[in-house]
Amino acid sequence: MKARVSQTARDELQCADLTSMERFQAMVLGWYADNARQFVWRTPNPDPFVVLVSETMLQQTQTHRVQQKLSLFLQQFPDFAALAAADNASIIRAWQGMGYNNRALRLRDCARTVLQVHNGVLPADAQALGALPGIGPYTVSAVLSFAFHHDVPVLDVNIRRLYSRVFQRLNTVIDLLSESALQLIARDVFPRGRSSEWHQACMDIAAQFCTARSPRCLLCPVCGSCRSAYQLADAAPVHIQEPSFRGQPNRIWRGRIVELLRGLEPGQELSHDDLRTVLSLRDTLDDAAWIGNLLSALERDGLIRNGPTGICLQS
Ligand code: ADE
Repeated sequence: MKARVSQTARDELQCADLTSMERFQAMVLGWYADNARQFVWRTPNPDPFVVLVSETMLQQTQTHRVQQKLSLFLQQFPDFAALAAADNASIIRAWQGMGYNNRALRLRDCARTVLQVHNGVLPADAQALGALPGIGPYTVSAVLSFAFHHDVPVLDVNIRRLYSRVFQRLNTVIDLLSESALQLIARDVFPRGRSSEWHQACMDIAAQFCTARSPRCLLCPVCGSCRSAYQLADAAPVHIQEPSFRGQPNRIWRGRIVELLRGLEPGQELSHDDLRTVLSLRDTLDDAAWIGNLLSALERDGLIRNGPTGICLQS
């Protein structure tokens, strides 16, 4: 079965040969040697804790925002012990500007497990990392590669896009190779012993040249190795339907509510009446049901406390 999947992937790739791999590697690493972006989290031997925090932030937030926020966050929570001791309200406050507040709580839960199960030391092992709360396959591979210098493939949305375009002649900016083909490329393409450098180089190229909507092929350092260079037509983005209210995703409304509570003194409540006013809710059953469900979900996720008269950040 495994061989069949691999064969399909190889067919799809029209068999990327060794020389084209080597040419691509030389272009990526040659460019990176002179042009790597400088980030707070990019140091020769980064602290695994810093890698875990920064990679968690980078999953939903742009690099320039993480660059601004990371140092401040690390001043407040310099290690697993400090993060593990944080209550919900202080972690949500420190996460301001980063979005997806749930992730901050999961990161804190992860720090608690690292402290309790691994004596405060992040394990350098895929299985143990994957068993930690909130840690998915991307974070496992990023931590192993960037913090522990293990020779593992790392695949995020940007690297998927870069590999897809380089190794297959695609037609539009939204086309991607199949996941099995991408897994195969990811496993084979990175130069052994240089996983960390390689994958962060690919991230930089994807972010600056091989962008999602308007690839800059003319300036791209791997243009000479790319089967899709200058070939990608525009295409309407695929919109994933998400639960919405008045044309705005619930995700945005959730963020607004948490943002309102961040502005209050610790423990201070925002009354239900004031919340309805600030959000311009109408006095209808539909609006009442919607806000009721949203507040229940925020409470279930550990972000707010919903009392009889109002809401506040959960401590
Ligand atoms: N996105 C996710 N991880 C990153 C990293 N280490 N550098 C730049 N962009 C990233």
